[in-house]
Amino acid sequence: MKVKRNNFTENEISKALKIYNYFIENSLSNFEEKKLSKSTFNLLLKKIKKNKLPFILATKDNEVIGLAFVNNFREKSGYRFSYEHSIYIDPAFINKGYGNKVLKELVKICKKIAKIKNLIAVIGGKNNFASINIHKKNGFDYIGTIKKAGFKKNRWVDSIYMQKRL
Ligand SMILES: CC(C)(COP(=O)(O)OP(=O)(O)OC[C@H]1O[C@@H](n2cnc3c(N)ncnc32)[C@H](O)[C@@H]1OP(=O)(O)O)[C@@H](O)C(=O)NCCC(=O)NCCS
Repeated sequence: MKVKRNNFTENEISKALKIYNYFIENSLSNFEEKKLSKSTFNLLLKKIKKNKLPFILATKDNEVIGLAFVNNFREKSGYRFSYEHSIYIDPAFINKGYGNKVLKELVKICKKIAKIKNLIAVIGGKNNFASINIHKKNGFDYIGTIKKAGFKKNRWVDSIYMQKRL
């Protein structure tokens, strides 16, 4: 597995969006209810780049198999040292150790960015064991649960917060 940062081809962006949209449509891990358009996804990429935050793609045999990025945790200025990250692995490649590797790489990159003092995972659904597991393995502490924080696919979904101080 290789990791690519910030400069991507159109094809790579399309594949990353396909993975992202898969989990919007088929899981409770992401609280969006409608797939993102290419232009909205490009705006997200642009914002992250402008804020000098990492956006990475994981590739295997030159194919994108995952994505991860860091975004503001909340917009109010006092939160400027706290960031929320997201990570998605192609469903055909889950449970093979890639998620753990991508998260490790993302943390490594974040440690070199002085303003990132807190990395916060907001995990959709208390049954998202894979996500909880990789965060534990990478030194994230369980902070708490916001019960029924989201409503998706006709059910209430908890948000699990996990944090790592950098
Ligand atoms: C969460 C996600 C990134 C993990 O990626 P992955 O490549 O599957 O993760 P890994 O294979 O590195 O590790 C998964 C771990 O969880 C464990 N796991 C998976 N499903 C499990 C379950 N139902 N119960 C208990 N443990 C489970 C695996 O055994 C593995 O642990 P191990 O290596 O110690 O055996 C991936 O599943 C994903 O993209 N999910 C949807 C989006 C998402 O939830 N993203 C996180 C948002 S913060």
